Amino acid sequence: MRAFTVPLRGMLAMLTCVAACASCSEAGASVQLYKSDPDFIWNRVHRILHARVSQAGEEYGSDNLDPPLWPETRYLLTGESHRQALMVLDEFLALHSERMITDPLQRAIFQHDLWSVFDWSDGPTLQNGTPAERLALQSRLARIIQRVALSRVEIEKLPDNLQAAAQASSDDLRELPTDIFRLHGPWVCVFPGGGAGQAPVHRGFNRESSFLVFFSLPGGQEQTRAYLKRLDESRQPWILTRYHPQDPQFILKNPSLPQFPPGTRVALLRQMLLVDISGEVVPTHLTESIQMRAYKTVPADSSAVGQQEDLEFRLSRTLLFAGRAGGLRRIKADDTEFPVFMTQGDDPFEGSESPPALPIIKRCGACHEGNGIYTVRSYANELAPRSGPAELPGLFEGTPAELIQGASKPTERNGMTWAYCRAFGSDRKRCVLRGDCLLAREQSPVLKHVGPRSAQSNSTAGAQSSSRNLLST
Ligand code: HEC
Repeated sequence: MRAFTVPLRGMLAMLTCVAACASCSEAGASVQLYKSDPDFIWNRVHRILHARVSQAGEEYGSDNLDPPLWPETRYLLTGESHRQALMVLDEFLALHSERMITDPLQRAIFQHDLWSVFDWSDGPTLQNGTPAERLALQSRLARIIQRVALSRVEIEKLPDNLQAAAQASSDDLRELPTDIFRLHGPWVCVFPGGGAGQAPVHRGFNRESSFLVFFSLPGGQEQTRAYLKRLDESRQPWILTRYHPQDPQFILKNPSLPQFPPGTRVALLRQMLLVDISGEVVPTHLTESIQMRAYKTVPADSSAVGQQEDLEFRLSRTLLFAGRAGGLRRIKADDTEFPVFMTQGDDPFEGSESPPALPIIKRCGACHEGNGIYTVRSYANELAPRSGPAELPGLFEGTPAELIQGASKPTERNGMTWAYCRAFGSDRKRCVLRGDCLLAREQSPVLKHVGPRSAQSNSTAGAQSSSRNLLST
């Protein structure tokens, strides 16, 4: 995870919006995720990595999508929490605790959670200079990630929880877009121009998830495609200007962009990636969240502010394991959290003052305020980190399966390949040249203990193909 500063209007105003932290009370009980006994080792690993305790003694975050860890966090990297984390992880490894749970869904969630912490600990912007501690943590996390890994076949068989949610007739999920993948349904999957890849800001932050953006005009796919065409044909979609002295590439919107009508919806779908037994990154059908904006008014004046309804549906591990509505729940208007996406990077649990948790839904407007197309970040993303001149904006139709495959390619950007190597003590150059990273170091002892028998017989072939991938990157 990376630090992004948030040059956003409205953010300061929101900080004053104090509400009791809804997630705090939810996470209040000690973790009982994998078995009812909080001392069960899988629960203890989850608790030490994913739950934080506030100065008032409240436990927070154990069922949050992302671990409550920020670029400035010292938790897990220094002092007692570091020592405790290593102890619990060492116990897991020494006792081969990966054998204690065979359910593929639980193994998948556990692995993905460990990968998120790994990714945070590997953040390029991590400020607090603890290389030895990071490596100590990473080497243990990487080994457990590998030990609980599923085979590709097992990953493919994991449930499609969006479909499960579609079958649950829950009032709470009435507006969940369960038809988002339907072939001739109302949605068109789009990707931004400029070659930055799908949802580059979110991907830069969550390398262990894939993201897809969808568009739906009220007239369905036909009207949506016609609109995308008009947008593409608009001659000068965005005007570059020296508007801001600190940012010479600052982009101003062209007030004559084609607008879409009220009733249009946009959606951002986040799904889980996993690391399979051969160390390759594999997509799943497990939906982690869907964010949506439904446009109620789109004023003719481009600089006016239209009305939007902001919605978010998120995965809860507890609901998923209980088999309730695919584990998805709607975020309520007054639910709050300590956001980890695009913050200044400070850890709210470690400062001298305890800042308030922020309302989740109210925060949407901080990044998406405006009118119609001008609120669509994927079109021309001023928030995307950029080293050179701004890229030409655009929004084009894409195929979900291909875009997801793109997100799981083992590139340096998704981090896992070389992060793994480092965690296992191989240097990156050698690893890329010779393909001898983690698989060479941990392969034989570890793969013997991976899940079901069928997974073991696949493992050698998988490991070889992964080495080939490494060599070809
Ligand atoms: C801190 C900034 C930030 C906040 C807060 C935020 N988003 Fe976004 N959102 C983005 C960025 C940036 C993108 C563009 C995709 C990318 O590059 O990752 C985006 C993309 C989207 C998209 C896809 C369409 C588009 O605009 O590109 C939807 C839908 C969306 N967000 C909904 C929401 C909702 C609903 C909320 C609140 C629950 C929210 N967002 C909160 C930054 C934010």
